[in-house]
Amino acid sequence: MAPGEVEARFEVPGGVRVETVLRERALAALERAYAPYSEFRVGAALLGTDGSVTDGCNVENASYPVSLCAERVALGAAVARGVRGFEAVAIATEAEEPSPPCGMCRQALVEFAPKMIVLSVTRSGRTARWTLDELLSNAFTPHSLDRR
Ligand code: THU
Repeated sequence: MAPGEVEARFEVPGGVRVETVLRERALAALERAYAPYSEFRVGAALLGTDGSVTDGCNVENASYPVSLCAERVALGAAVARGVRGFEAVAIATEAEEPSPPCGMCRQALVEFAPKMIVLSVTRSGRTARWTLDELLSNAFTPHSLDRR
């Protein structure tokens, strides 16, 4: 296993099953990715504190910077359905090694769930697991705006 990779487990009742669902939803979302430019397809599945799962995929654009990452597509969809608290996110790619989320997605997620678990999975079943806090420590959050 590469650095950062651990055997994934959720320390909640039914956690192993929850993780399986997240993994499958992220891999299914990957199949719907629109990534004709990078050909790097990504799927994401967000576990809400209410138990809901919302997925998303990357959506690229001929004007490259307009492209959206899978995590932020999932986040927007979840917030639009009224979910604002998250336990975990699973990210699926076709890379050989689990991919960590990009910096912009880390910032987007920390707004809602600074302590969430971030799982990254590959098609072959390799899994990495982090906390968002370790991926983006000392983050700029809504509290930062109180310090004016
Ligand atoms: N991508 C994501 O969807 N999530 C990430 O965290 C990293 C990158 C997408 C953006 C782009 O469509 C493709 O992967 C290559 O960068």
